[in-house]
Amino acid sequence: MQAFDVTAVRREFPTLGTSVHGRPLVYLDNAATSQKPRAVISRLERYYAEENANVHRGVHVLSERATVAYESARSVVARFLGLDDPKGCVFVRGATEGINLVADSWGRSHLRPGDEILLTHLEHHANIVPWQLAAERTGAKVVVAPVTSRGEVDLAAFKGLLSARTRLVAFAHVSNALGTVNPAAEMTQLAKAAGATVLIDGCQAAAHFNVDVPSLGCDFYVFSGHKTFGPTGIGVLWGRAELLDAMPPYQSGGDMIRKVDFDGTTFREAPERFEAGTPHIAGVIGLAEALAFFMPIRASAHAHEQVLLSAATERLRAVKGLTVVGEASDKVAVLSFTMAGAHPHDIGTLLDADGIAIRTGHHCCMPLMKRLGLTGTARASFAFYNTLEEVEALGRALERVRKMTA
Ligand code: ALA
Repeated sequence: MQAFDVTAVRREFPTLGTSVHGRPLVYLDNAATSQKPRAVISRLERYYAEENANVHRGVHVLSERATVAYESARSVVARFLGLDDPKGCVFVRGATEGINLVADSWGRSHLRPGDEILLTHLEHHANIVPWQLAAERTGAKVVVAPVTSRGEVDLAAFKGLLSARTRLVAFAHVSNALGTVNPAAEMTQLAKAAGATVLIDGCQAAAHFNVDVPSLGCDFYVFSGHKTFGPTGIGVLWGRAELLDAMPPYQSGGDMIRKVDFDGTTFREAPERFEAGTPHIAGVIGLAEALAFFMPIRASAHAHEQVLLSAATERLRAVKGLTVVGEASDKVAVLSFTMAGAHPHDIGTLLDADGIAIRTGHHCCMPLMKRLGLTGTARASFAFYNTLEEVEALGRALERVRKMTA
């Protein structure tokens, strides 16, 4: 593994050199969205300045160029997910749209009254609500696997909830609120042994470690571009081609049809089947650039983040009155915490005054917060471009918060 030069890496991210309230920005809200490297920013500019045209529709040079860039991006995404074939990679707005697509299209065609959809208690709302709606539409039932007070899925309970009724299992690869890495391959294997279809929400995993879809063995995998150093408004749903090709369209319009007639319309196979209308071409091209930037440093970036995670955990535990929430044995560099006498929003506001950006609140995980007996936490979420100096800046700032609120 190559040595990780965080100083050099930081120079690639213009935002990281900015100031907030006269202080150097310490950006620790990467689980909400990541910063973008120059390569992505300049690729977007080049696309709009030199290559802008619609894809799949024109015979002219610009359209052909845009189409080549768009379809090459699909191959980059496939490589990013460890896949040989880009066919199952569908471009969507983000992980949320990917889950909604599966819940609506696959759900409508596969779920029946009495079927069960198994989720876990640590899911983001985006991996709960689409399934609740799918259950309402079809008569299926949502079942929830519990989490322990350490913030890990209770695997024995998960296993016990799987049965012949379980039609679909959907779970986060990594918890956005706590950083817990779920044993995704093992959970998938258990679910598949029960005959279920498996969707993994990879939103918080893709930016932290190598995701190899074939070895996970799932049927659907989703992630968002903006959390993976790419643009907003673009994401990926990967699905097994045979499942996608058999699913009814989610949205309809241009480019997803084979033939339209007032007597009836036929549809293309995946991925075009699920890419109705003009897609987010710039977003797709920018995402490919982000993944191409990240892939070569992915392993060393992960190792660096693990150093940040242990240093930050130790540093924050030393702050009086602070409790770390989420102590899973396998975590990405996300630290949720509470502080006696200080509301998470107040912590966030006081840290902002020091130039430190974190997220506070329920993190779109109300059921998880309720399970942990909390209304919210403060959450520092790291990326590979964060430093040990920033960990120390966070620790010192929290000590000041402690003094102000004690
Ligand atoms: N899901 C994102 C987060 O955890 C927005 O902050």
